[in-house]
Parts: sequence; C-alpha cells; structure tokens
Amino acid sequence: MQHYALKALLGNLIIRAPLHNPSLILDIGCGTGPVTRELGALYPSAHSIYGIDLSPVPPTSTDASLPNVSFICSDARKLIGLDPRLPTGTADFIFNRLLLCGMTDWPGYVRDVFKMLKPGGWVEMQDFEEMFYLRGEKMDGEKKWRWLREFRRGARGKGMDLDCGRNMRGYMLDAGFVDVDARQFVVAVLEGSGYARDGGGLGVGDW
Ligand SMILES: C[S@@+](CC[C@H](N)C(=O)[O-])C[C@H]1O[C@@H](n2cnc3c(N)ncnc32)[C@H](O)[C@@H]1O
Repeated sequence: MQHYALKALLGNLIIRAPLHNPSLILDIGCGTGPVTRELGALYPSAHSIYGIDLSPVPPTSTDASLPNVSFICSDARKLIGLDPRLPTGTADFIFNRLLLCGMTDWPGYVRDVFKMLKPGGWVEMQDFEEMFYLRGEKMDGEKKWRWLREFRRGARGKGMDLDCGRNMRGYMLDAGFVDVDARQFVVAVLEGSGYARDGGGLGVGDW
C-alpha cells in the first residue's frame, strides 16, 4: 500500500528521472522489490536491473516475466565497486526510496553512489523529512510530543538522518553531483487530505 501511496504522490510515476535506454539500474534498499519490478517492466531492454537489500526479497508470480530483474541480498555499500556485477562507473540509474531508517552514513553512501554511476547517469533518492508542518510553518513537534523527541534522539544516536529528504540535495552536491533537482511533496497527516490535495500532495486519509 505504501508503494502505491508514494506513487500516487508523484503523479502516478515511480521515478521522475529522464532515463533513455538505461542498461544497468540499481534499486538500493529495495525492500520487497516493488520499484525494482516496475523498473523491469518499464525498461525491458535494460541489460540488468538489480534490487539490493539486507533482507531476502520474497519471490512473486511476475518474476518469470522480468528476466532482467534480479535481487541481491547484501549491504549495498559492501558491493559497490567490489562485486563483479557492480564495477564502479557503470550504472545508468541508481534509485533509493525510504532509506531514512536504514542508512547511518548518508555522506559516505552518496559518495559510493557517485562512484557507481556512469558519467551522464542519473540518481533519484526519494525520502522523507520526518518533521511536521502546519499550513507551511514548521511545528515544534519535538517540544510538543515526547514520542517524536525520543524517536529523533534515538535515530540521531544511531547515526540516522530523519531529515535526509531535506538534506539530500546538500549530500549530492558535496559528493560531486551536478544538475541536482530537489522537489518537495506534501503528505498531510494532521490536517486531513483536503490541505494536501490543494497543494498537490497526498493525504493519509486517501489511503
Ligand atoms: C523502509 S524500506 C524501503 C523499501 C523500498 N525502497 C520501498 O520504498 O518500498 C528500507 C529498506 O532498506 C534496506 N536497507 C537499509 N540499509 C541498507 C543497506 N546498507 N544495503 C541494502 N539495503 C539496505 C532495509 O533492509 C529495508 O528493506
């Protein structure tokens, strides 16, 4: 359901990067692989589309129709440039979504992604800023809610960045990326879905 909600948020698109005839695609932290499989269906002429995750990806009935899609169960950072399937400088497109509660070293990770990318290739990182806004104004949620304070404190202690969605642009520029485009999408959780729809976003009430 989360996959379809996020897709709806992006105007029914899974990715927004302008890809043309990609050959090697990576979906890092692919979870159960919904994006990897959709990319397989969208780019049947791609040579290889790898979904990479720390956990094994459960097979589905559509896998046989996606011969160029395969899944690797590993820490992505231990593969890039080290696994024979993933030499540096060879990926046409690298995607990750919702890594915010998994990644503990964003600057290092984004540098690895930069190394993995072919010159002229594209990267798309879709993630959250785990913060609340009221009519566009940032709320002092940490002051208001103990659960948020503790959540953010615990995450910080583990090296996670719960604002990675907002900070991604900076991570990319620091890693050497050029032509970086950051877009924000609103998910309404407190105000109902009307506000989000007015702003072109998504309300949790819609799902
Ligand atoms: C919240 S899930 C998102 C799944 C999927 N991207 C989606 O949007 O449906 C985050 C996933 O990232 C994986 N992950 C976190 N760190 C990783 C790493 N270093 N290498 C590979 N996978 C990782 C986790 O195992 C988890 O399945």
